[in-house]
Amino acid sequence: MERTLAIETVKAVGKEVKLQGWVNTRRDHGKIMFLDLRDRSGIVQLVSTKDLADARAEDVIEVVGLVKERPASMVNPKIETGTVEVEIKSIAIISKARELPFPIDTDGYDINEEIRMKYRYLDIRRSRMTRNLRVRSKVTTFIRNYLTVLDFVEVETPMLTKTTPEGARDFIVPSRLQKGKFYALPQSPQQYKQLLMVAGLERYFQIVRCFRDEDPRKDRAYGEFTQLDMEMSFVTQNDILSLIELMFTKLVGEIFPEKHISQSPWPRIPHKEAMATYGTDKPDIRKDKNDPNELAFSWTIDFPLFTEQSEEDFYHGSGAAKFAPSHHMFTSPHPDDIGLLDTDPMKVRGLQHDLVLNGYEVGGGSIRIHEREVQEKVFDLIGFSEKQKSQFEHMLTAFTYGVPPHGGIAPGIDRLVMSILGEPTIREVMAFPASSSGQTSVMDAPSDATPEQLKELGITVISKKKL
Ligand code: AMO
Repeated sequence: MERTLAIETVKAVGKEVKLQGWVNTRRDHGKIMFLDLRDRSGIVQLVSTKDLADARAEDVIEVVGLVKERPASMVNPKIETGTVEVEIKSIAIISKARELPFPIDTDGYDINEEIRMKYRYLDIRRSRMTRNLRVRSKVTTFIRNYLTVLDFVEVETPMLTKTTPEGARDFIVPSRLQKGKFYALPQSPQQYKQLLMVAGLERYFQIVRCFRDEDPRKDRAYGEFTQLDMEMSFVTQNDILSLIELMFTKLVGEIFPEKHISQSPWPRIPHKEAMATYGTDKPDIRKDKNDPNELAFSWTIDFPLFTEQSEEDFYHGSGAAKFAPSHHMFTSPHPDDIGLLDTDPMKVRGLQHDLVLNGYEVGGGSIRIHEREVQEKVFDLIGFSEKQKSQFEHMLTAFTYGVPPHGGIAPGIDRLVMSILGEPTIREVMAFPASSSGQTSVMDAPSDATPEQLKELGITVISKKKL
């Protein structure tokens, strides 16, 4: 017999069906016993007059039974299959479940996060988490379809690569074949996507993992997160902003019909004005902050190209320069301000754009520098030594072979979904996030390497005590 899903029982009244899933709840009423069976489609009530003593909550079971319409007085409007129930003919317990370490029939917010992460595979059984992962999948599927129709090409770029600074520390990976050398995991595919423009692709996107070693916050994951990374040639900043605005407006309409976007077109707020009016470059411009369904998108533009350099900047080692890029070193200066690069660099505006949603920065991007001389000038201003410059020589070389003007953006998928759903932290929309101390969920990484592995890599670990 073919498997029937819980949701399909409403259309199978009078039929015998085979169901497989988990025991969601069990209720004993003397001579009659109810089990709710849960599968990926939802829940359906099973009923039996026989003793089902063995079937306990969270056991995996297989049931063959007869689907019956419930009498009107017994209909449960709270579940989609509330008009029917399944009279059990036979039941088999496929796998027993021990008592779970925490309840999964609640929203789970008040449960210790470390325990939730240790047993994340159980935590995901709660309906809120399952919904979040499903929503996320719908969002990425929508984006893929939308951009593919517009002639964008999805390209995978290397994970074992060289540093592309985005303002965080790199994760480095030792090379076995070239002992003593290291790869860096990408903080973003920034350089590759620009090289794809030199390669003539014109429209690129990638739903891609980025790696940054930085302290976590409620809207910032430790270690890794996902971007919708995009780049386009022969575009203006307005083209990029309009495309994103149209795409996300349609996405919200299709996937989140209960939400409303409070202002269209989305306001474009110059950085100076944002700071003066709201005191932040990511203002929360919702009309009613108590309305969980309001989405207030805005753009912040006209950022200064540089900020004062601080100890926190990882762009360089010289420490001599005063300037750090506000966005990253490939962002183009505003064409009206090019002259100021020589005279007053802090006054130069960059062609950077940040996408803001309900007070969160959910995307960032820019029009890029495509002239070698301007790029070199920016390298100088951020204090790059000749050696550091040489690390980016491939970009400068590529730009000598006919480079189209180009620009792009990278909305953060996790942060976007978190903000739309109104979840309190980014970890609520990630399947297996790391904890704030960098411990991976479920699996206990980072962990020690074996002496053999270290030997093969030519690495000696100074004892942890000495570190
Ligand atoms: P940026 O560094 O601004 O730009 O990142 C783009 C977007 O990625 C998201 N994001 C994060 N999300 C979760 N956890 C993090 N640690 C994290 N860091 C960033 C944010 C952010 O707006 N290469 C450029 C993009 C470009 O210029 O096209 C870049 O990575 O939503």
